[in-house]
Amino acid sequence: MTANLIDSFGRVVDDLRISVTDRCNFRCVYCMPAEGLEWLAKAKLLSFEEITRVANIFLDLGVNTIRLTGGEPTLRKQLPALVAMLRGLDKDLNIAMTTNGFLLDELAGPLADAGLNRVNVSIDSLMRHRSKQITRRDALDRTMAGLAAAASAELGPIKINCVVIRNTNDDEIVDFAEFARTTGFEVRFIEFMPLDADKGWDRSSVVTQAEVISAISERFPLVPRTSGHEPAKVFGFADGAPGSIGVIPSVSEPFCESCNRVRITADGQLRTCLFSLGETDLRTMLRDGTSDEQISASIRASIWKKEKGHKINDPEFVRPQRSMSMIGG
Ligand code: 5AD
Ligand code: SF4
Repeated sequence: MTANLIDSFGRVVDDLRISVTDRCNFRCVYCMPAEGLEWLAKAKLLSFEEITRVANIFLDLGVNTIRLTGGEPTLRKQLPALVAMLRGLDKDLNIAMTTNGFLLDELAGPLADAGLNRVNVSIDSLMRHRSKQITRRDALDRTMAGLAAAASAELGPIKINCVVIRNTNDDEIVDFAEFARTTGFEVRFIEFMPLDADKGWDRSSVVTQAEVISAISERFPLVPRTSGHEPAKVFGFADGAPGSIGVIPSVSEPFCESCNRVRITADGQLRTCLFSLGETDLRTMLRDGTSDEQISASIRASIWKKEKGHKINDPEFVRPQRSMSMIGG
């Protein structure tokens, strides 16, 4: 029996993001500190069995999409085995992953074979030296090789995530549009959110949806496409070229009122918003003999209290304690 998970504002939650590790092999400036972040102790990470058990409870509650995130999810040992376990729950489940692509060269095939449907690959610059500045790793070549491997493994439709930051990579917006046209991928420009460990975010560094669209339209006229339930506004090219452009206007035009997602951190904490200030401890329940029914009831109760929206634009905004790599995109 499948029941819907709904919150007190009538939103239906059907998209679960599961972080499988807090570790990362990059140190993107908008996410992690250059050094000094302590990793979670291994005992705190949910095991594959625990992840699969909790995922199954969520599936019974109507979730139809699971996205694996991190940190960098491909750093979790034996990740294809987890994908196979999740696939075993339901052949129609949508299983996606957000990755920096560095290890995809080797892993794309095994992940696809295990039942992964698609990937979003994070690329914030198409220039090697700048990519190095942003990710603090000289990794663009490997990411590009990973992207090619994902395409051959048919992990599509492939989307490229690009966080746009003023005076950092905003001069590459049109180049990324060109990249979408030549590869056929969807490039999604994500507005920079205050989730960076370095706390360098400020409003002026956010390049808004309006700015992105206007920069691209001057060169390549765009036509809006319907994007279903996605928070991204999606556009095609008016001249019929392949590829598409997405914009995720988290700051300038929050889409909280139609948010359908919740997250589980690598240490098993349920977060009903990226910006939640509180969490529900699923890990303890998974380990102390609590029944599936009781866990399910606790998940329902937490989701009922899902926040109305983030308060980035309110004067009383308080950042969450965790930064992005510890939450999971
Ligand atoms: N603002 C916006 N997007 C971010 N991401 C990581 N940190 C931030 C931030 N501060 C993105 C990554 C990745 C996805 C999981 O989240 O680029 O694509
Ligand atoms: Fe790693 Fe992704 Fe954070 Fe970059 S944004 S440091 S790739 S988790």
